[in-house]
Amino acid sequence: MAFTVTPWEVSGAIDYDKLVEQFGVSRIGPGLLKRIEAHAAKKGLPLHHMLRRNIFFAHRDLKWILDEYEKGNRFFLYTGRGPSGSTHIGHLIPWLFTKWLQDVFDVELYFQLTDDEKFLFNPKLELEDTQRLAMENALDVIAVGFKQGKTHIFSNTGYAKTLYPQACRVAKKLTFSTAKAVFGFGNDSNVGQIFFTSMQAVPAFLPSVQAGRNIPCLIPHAIDQDPHFRVTRDIMPRMGYYKPASVQCRFLPGLTEDGKMSASKADTAIYTTDDARTVRKKVLKHAFSGGQPTVEEHRAKGGDPDIDVSYQWLTFLEENDAKLTQVYHDYKSGRLLSGELKLMLVEKLNGLLTGHQKRREQARKRLDDFWVKD
Ligand code: TYM
Repeated sequence: MAFTVTPWEVSGAIDYDKLVEQFGVSRIGPGLLKRIEAHAAKKGLPLHHMLRRNIFFAHRDLKWILDEYEKGNRFFLYTGRGPSGSTHIGHLIPWLFTKWLQDVFDVELYFQLTDDEKFLFNPKLELEDTQRLAMENALDVIAVGFKQGKTHIFSNTGYAKTLYPQACRVAKKLTFSTAKAVFGFGNDSNVGQIFFTSMQAVPAFLPSVQAGRNIPCLIPHAIDQDPHFRVTRDIMPRMGYYKPASVQCRFLPGLTEDGKMSASKADTAIYTTDDARTVRKKVLKHAFSGGQPTVEEHRAKGGDPDIDVSYQWLTFLEENDAKLTQVYHDYKSGRLLSGELKLMLVEKLNGLLTGHQKRREQARKRLDDFWVKD
């Protein structure tokens, strides 16, 4: 089956094995998991469930990051968001994991909001829209619970004086031919689009510029963003910096389909601002079910958790392994009905969102504590 994964389009039934091969990332093996687990244990934390379940499944140079850290050379974290609309649960996946990494390794986080990107790539958005959305999305970032004082959030247009000179240095080393090959640009692409990846490269080395010495960088993200960092990794050593390391997750699927949750399709997405009734309505109405058409048939034949979106979502969100395994077997044996499974997901989502929404409102007063501009 055909599928597409680029920074601007994700569709079809994604074959992650093929992606590992095509993108040239490495799988996270048991050796690396053990090492990360040992660091987590020092903070009294178990290995993150997204690592236990292979949701964060691939990486570049993670071994090197751990080697350096264990020698006392700390890395910093870098991740981001393209502010094209409201934040949805899919975006929270890499951020929740990034927060865990910040807790375990006690490191700085640089968070980029690419208001320029979303303006350049989305014909319907004005710059004022993406700038406003950047501030709204920043509330979600703060609500995730990153450490104040160690977390620096900025938008590309709001921090342009600092970012732009560095982006020029990247751009000078990036040919149109490479940008075309990696991102598929053509004659109808606007020139801002062609330049843009230079801006996304900058936070991977900006802390090194500011500190006057090279600092390792680790970038958590979903696999769609990898092409940007392939380009970045190619250029950084030529500028005298380390290649950034990265760690990639799978996509939380949309409620109704394969691929990834899309903010532009309201029915397939749960937004961080959806209230409890809306969440319940969306899940009950739209979540693709692996159940049988009638209760009798379901009790007799059982459901298929591997294609059931509610179950898939629980693998991303339910931390308790024993509980998740129980759900898997109960559903497969027909003991648990599709409606009941959906309600379990509704409860999980609403539990998560109630806390998030409270912290999100409080974040309005805390923006200045995190926001960096020039
Ligand atoms: P954006 O806004 O498309 O996505 C933000 C982050 O969420 C990940 N993501 C998902 N993860 C799991 N399931 C999904 N359904 C899902 N949808 C999106 C994305 O991979 C990303 O990590 N250009 C970037 C912004 C950016 C950035 C970065 C992202 C700038 N610098 C550094 C990661 C790392 C963008 O438009 O992301």
